[in-house]
Amino acid sequence: MYFDTHTHLDDARFADDRAEVIQKVRDAGVTLAVNIGADMKSSETSVALAEQYDFIYASVGVHPEDVTHLTEADMDRLAELAQHKKVVAIGEIGLDYHYDDVPKELQKKWFLRQIQLAQKLELPYIVHDREAHGDVLEIIRESGYFRGVMHCYSGSAEMAQELLKLGFYISFAGPVTFKNGKKAQEVAKQIPIERILIETDSPYLTPEPYRGQRNDSSMVQFVARKIAELKGITAAEAAWITMENGKRFFNI
Ligand code: NI
Repeated sequence: MYFDTHTHLDDARFADDRAEVIQKVRDAGVTLAVNIGADMKSSETSVALAEQYDFIYASVGVHPEDVTHLTEADMDRLAELAQHKKVVAIGEIGLDYHYDDVPKELQKKWFLRQIQLAQKLELPYIVHDREAHGDVLEIIRESGYFRGVMHCYSGSAEMAQELLKLGFYISFAGPVTFKNGKKAQEVAKQIPIERILIETDSPYLTPEPYRGQRNDSSMVQFVARKIAELKGITAAEAAWITMENGKRFFNI
């Protein structure tokens, strides 16, 4: 029984076989999943998917790469979508400094604004942080609202400790299984398992041994196995503990 806490099953890459993929996900023992909104459109489609499938919940929010044309009216729409009983978080939101196309100041503005939205709605939030660790931590502190998870964690062990002190959860995806995933593996070893979530971020970030293929939520088992190995527990224990952590974090 696995909880994939971050997946994009509404993605266009599943357009031709979504129903089959979701059946495969269920058959692989995934009993809970949160489908993540990343822009206004996918926030809508996440909620629609959650309506269609019992075991799928949704988050709504706008990823830093997509904030260029955001408006306050969009915030109102997200708040409206969040009233749905299967919407369990705001996200994914954050900062992405990998590409230069969205000005940093604009990203920061909408990151903070969406944390405030989460606070107002009394929901947790899901943070995307790519090459922006310092600024992400600064905005989280500035917000004063710490009910968050760092998705696909790529920061340092020191930053993880800071986040844990604030009350954050840390989530690991496919990269923790990679041969060059030593940094994330070290963090996973050091932090308490009670604060660890697992995810696929499918269709991206396919874990070993399937790296290179399209990812889907059934592959969350490989992330669970890696966490088990790093923690010296069984895969079943890792699956069970991360399931309980996810239910607590998302209040499911
Ligand atoms: Ni994602």
